[in-house]
Amino acid sequence: MSDKTMNKNLYEKAIEAQKLSYSPYSKVTVGAALLTADDNIYLGANIENSSYGATVCAERTAIFNAVLSGEKCFKEIVITSNLDDFIFPCGMCLQVMAEFSDDLKVFATNAKGEVKEKNIKELFPFAFRL
Ligand code: THU
Repeated sequence: MSDKTMNKNLYEKAIEAQKLSYSPYSKVTVGAALLTADDNIYLGANIENSSYGATVCAERTAIFNAVLSGEKCFKEIVITSNLDDFIFPCGMCLQVMAEFSDDLKVFATNAKGEVKEKNIKELFPFAFRL
């Protein structure tokens, strides 16, 4: 792991979640581990569908998991995948992240376990808000 600021436990949890990915179409397995303000961890994995647009990303399943447990303040999210390249959240996930946090640390990793850290403010500076 190249970035010492990434929480190793969160990384391991994301890898565990990644194993639950349902991705028969793309074969891209993605895991996410979300750390809340209360220091709880919620997991997510991508869940695909034969009607491709019904697929949900790992980041959103983690966030929805947390919201359904009554938590809406998030500090960090680690994203893992089986891709060689670093996996950053898609636009739809950025919009969902921005709904709940304006200061979320996003740790994007690659299959080798290397990491890049970005803040949601850098990834999505002009989020749509009402
Ligand atoms: N995917 C995620 O779960 N998170 C991302 O940040 C990008 C893409 C999933 C959706 C789909 O199941 C597969 O990766 C390929 O796009």
